[in-house]
Amino acid sequence: MTTTDASASRSLTDGAIAAALHTVSANAATFGLRYPADTTTDGVYALRPATDEHPAGSNLGWTTSFWPGQLWLATELTDREVFRDAALDHVASFAARVRDEVELDTHDLGFLYTLSCVTAWRLEGDVVAREAALAAADALMVRFLEPAGIIQAWGDLSDPRQRGRTIIDSLMNLPLLRWASVVSGDRSYGDAADRHAVALRDHILRPDGTTFHTFYWDAETGAPLRGATEQGESDSSCWARGQAWGIFGFALTHRETGDESFLEAARRCADHFLEQLPPDGVPYWDLALVDVPRDSSAAAITVCGLDELVRLLPENDPARARYADAATGMLDALVATCTPVAGADASPLLLHGVYDMPRGIGVDEGTLWGDYYFLEALTRRALPQWRSYWWVAGEER
Ligand code: GLY
Repeated sequence: MTTTDASASRSLTDGAIAAALHTVSANAATFGLRYPADTTTDGVYALRPATDEHPAGSNLGWTTSFWPGQLWLATELTDREVFRDAALDHVASFAARVRDEVELDTHDLGFLYTLSCVTAWRLEGDVVAREAALAAADALMVRFLEPAGIIQAWGDLSDPRQRGRTIIDSLMNLPLLRWASVVSGDRSYGDAADRHAVALRDHILRPDGTTFHTFYWDAETGAPLRGATEQGESDSSCWARGQAWGIFGFALTHRETGDESFLEAARRCADHFLEQLPPDGVPYWDLALVDVPRDSSAAAITVCGLDELVRLLPENDPARARYADAATGMLDALVATCTPVAGADASPLLLHGVYDMPRGIGVDEGTLWGDYYFLEALTRRALPQWRSYWWVAGEER
């Protein structure tokens, strides 16, 4: 990179961070302790919908922690008390959720409690957050099925449609178990994470470097059964966000275990993703398709995953520069083509995501996770020493 390129890139990053922080600040004023919906509708976040038992804006579903996650990133980018206080204020809601057993029948307890509570403990020593995160790890362990050695993704454990089913996104839920092992001294959490990751490496990653979104095991015998999709185009296609979770999740698993096979798995996911990436740097929502809506959130997750890979590869590995260049190009593309004009109320940070194309949910909209990973990607660029919320190894407080 020339000096001019470097200073242009810095000013692009600074401008994108300033705009993102402005939006986070405005959304904090709009939502307070309530939670926005999973995605925007026509470009605007409404409150999370009410249910029979819970009012609008309640802490329900799998995406609420991406909101305090953004507040933590904003805290680290600015050191401003207003963001720190707002992030800490969400701990009580997550502690109540796990205590009252509200919608805990999901593997996404990892996403939920890593960003809301593990981070509050790590950065601020919040003991309520630590206890809530440990309770969430216990609830996640209930979903670990023997003899298959996998964590069931969705639903009640006795639901025949969901029994023995995992999904690739689950790799990002394993850091909660690894953290619980370290802070509790109980290895069973980490052992479960290791077994689950091995099962996904061996079955959800296909020989050609593509991935299934979901995979079923026979919960009684432990036999691997079949791959299937839920949010991709077909059982044999390659859902872009799943591939992104694979890049990031397998790279994290290598970091935690030192097992080279997970580094190889992450590289294979990355290589296929980059082969299918259009020249403008934002993937189609399924990597097997062209000229369909993009999923900017898959790009944001991939930028973070590629950054992990770059940090893990030896300096003389030729793929290192290729992954670093790809991450730079994709993040620049997101800034240039997927950020909203400033000033709108309840705005996302990142436009043009897709939640669930087969069901027509959240198509060409902002998404809470896309916003979070976009801000994480910007943070990684702005603060190279930033300590990832997803790392655990050797943790001390
Ligand atoms: N973890 C669900 C999704 O990526 O849509």
